[in-house]
Amino acid sequence: MNIRATSRVLGVIGDPVAHSFSPDMHNAAIAALDVDYCYVAFHVLPDRIAEAIHGMRGLNIRGLNVTIPHKLAVMEHLDRISEEASAVGAVNTISHEDGALVGYNTDVYGILTALREIAGLKTLPAQCVVLGAGGAARAVTYALGMQDAVQRVTLLNRTVARAEALAGDMEKITGKTIAVGPLDAETQRRSFADAGAVVNTTSLGMYPKVNASPLVDVRAVHPGLVLCDTVFNPLETQLMRAFKSVGAPAFGGLDMLVFQGARSFAIWTGVEPPTDVMKNAVVKRVRREA
Ligand SMILES: NC(=O)c1ccc[n+]([C@@H]2O[C@H](COP(=O)([O-])OP(=O)(O)OC[C@H]3O[C@@H](n4cnc5c(N)ncnc54)[C@H](OP(=O)(O)O)[C@@H]3O)[C@@H](O)[C@H]2O)c1
Repeated sequence: MNIRATSRVLGVIGDPVAHSFSPDMHNAAIAALDVDYCYVAFHVLPDRIAEAIHGMRGLNIRGLNVTIPHKLAVMEHLDRISEEASAVGAVNTISHEDGALVGYNTDVYGILTALREIAGLKTLPAQCVVLGAGGAARAVTYALGMQDAVQRVTLLNRTVARAEALAGDMEKITGKTIAVGPLDAETQRRSFADAGAVVNTTSLGMYPKVNASPLVDVRAVHPGLVLCDTVFNPLETQLMRAFKSVGAPAFGGLDMLVFQGARSFAIWTGVEPPTDVMKNAVVKRVRREA
């Protein structure tokens, strides 16, 4: 990479941030396209968010990704929020546009593109299940609920009250039925029975606790149920293996990660990045650390 005096700065803010794959992914795209940008990680503590965003203005930083725990906290410091980010209630991308800071949520595009292009669901199933009710679940539930083909989304979460709050918000925004339940065996069996897709947004199964899984009993899974796990490290989770063991198609979170990153990159640079190059960069890093 050739960083020059003219290079525009992109980056990610988070706490922690040292584990982030975004620098690998974006710098690989920058190198492949030979465009004059560089992408770095900034460790920003929660009580420094206002200063960090102020610094983005002062230093004329072109764009930032926002990761845990700042996706909500950054919103009040921005000049405009996209309709999508405002509906989801979280910003994962900030773009410096003609002196104004604009917040976007590219996780919505990331999950929809992964479901359509990687999982092959050109038309989404009428009944979908989302495991989890945190930040990723907000983007996924909104993405699913906004599709004409989807009639009902069922949210299963360890903390049912959190799922109820999310369901209330998303029913108002999407106009769809959003059901809720606990993450237990019986509820999984009932809600999986007539569903066509499951998206796992819990962090269960994520490195280093790779043997954890939100699935209680594999008998709840049928071969017509497509799994999209949002966990991307490891590349194949325990949950994916369980689905595959009964002949159900299962996909990991890597493609969602790459598609959300590609969308951010296009917003900042105006150029569509090579997603295969971005994906290879993440795969290389995951394998190096395994
Ligand atoms: N592929 C991508 O591009 C992408 C993008 C965004 C996020 N993600 C992934 O999505 C996952 C969640 O991220 P997030 O931002 O939504 O985090 P979050 O807001 O902290 O939510 C975590 C979720 O996991 C559940 N959970 C955590 N530990 C659990 C346990 N021991 N048993 C049962 N449930 C448990 C939580 O349930 P409670 O509500 O009961 O605590 C909650 O639903 C992470 O693995 C992240 O890497 C991937």
